[in-house]
Amino acid sequence: MQLKHFLQFNDFSREEFEYLFERTRWIKQEFKQYRRYWPLMDRTLAMIFDKNSTRTRLSFEAGMSQLGGTAVYLSNRDTQLGRGEPVEDAARVISSMVDVVMIRTHEHDSVKRFSENSVVPVINGLTDEYHPCQIMSDIFTYMELKGSLSGKTVAWIGDANNMCSTWLQAAEIFDFRVNVSTPPGYDIKPEAIGLKGDEHFQMFSQPLDAVKNVDLVTTDVWISMGFEKETEQRKNDFAGFCVDADMMAAAKSDAIFMHCLPAHRGEEVASEVIDGPQSVVWIEAENRLHTQKALIEYLLLGKLTIEQ
Ligand code: CP
Ligand code: NVA
Repeated sequence: MQLKHFLQFNDFSREEFEYLFERTRWIKQEFKQYRRYWPLMDRTLAMIFDKNSTRTRLSFEAGMSQLGGTAVYLSNRDTQLGRGEPVEDAARVISSMVDVVMIRTHEHDSVKRFSENSVVPVINGLTDEYHPCQIMSDIFTYMELKGSLSGKTVAWIGDANNMCSTWLQAAEIFDFRVNVSTPPGYDIKPEAIGLKGDEHFQMFSQPLDAVKNVDLVTTDVWISMGFEKETEQRKNDFAGFCVDADMMAAAKSDAIFMHCLPAHRGEEVASEVIDGPQSVVWIEAENRLHTQKALIEYLLLGKLTIEQ
């Protein structure tokens, strides 16, 4: 089987995602029925964390165990990677002992270098630049609740961070549009994130303009992991970019709200929105489990017929 990695959203084609979402539906249904599905007995996932996590760690660890395999948690606080062992050396050793690797770290380049020296698939569990596993779950969640995202419009309000860049890559693959509203100085960088063109996004200086008539409103923290030194500056710069009830009222009446979590109520989102009827954040979080199980299955076993 050809070695495949999932480092950025655009590493996969639309056809591959459609296959993954079909598998996700089946895997989720089997899980909900308490039916055993253990295609990955004797397989091991190594999870390398250089940043904190609740959802990513748990969904990968529980997911691997539910597929009959084992997950090993490696924190850079304890491993030699944290003491400066070269990524290339670590990749050779770790990938010789396990079947798949998930990495959460700072620079995307480290994950890339790891993958170039790995003999097993590597999954990006979040870098400063991208969060592809989260967007896979978000798009699956939208499809599950509302149908196809093609032709629809998503509003991204706030920081042009790893989530925003991944939404923009996904828009090109699934053919939807993203209205982006970020404060001055926090703009998106289309070339740096490998966008093919500018047909799938539009910039808005006023967040209220960006949310008009959209199908989905989404945001994320103002201070991503690794940017803590900028906290005070960012809190000032992002004032006015809180997704509140007025913003949701400007979107389509059946629009939904997403947030990858963890959230800061009263900063990037008002409680009335995240805890309100249009919010789907809990389903979005749960779907990390089901979509990632389909992802690991695909990377290790290739395409299966749907009833397997
Ligand atoms: N959304 C997300 O990736 O959450 P964690 O940081 O808890 O993994
Ligand atoms: N943008 C956030 C996402 C956390 C899941 C961060 O990188 O910290």
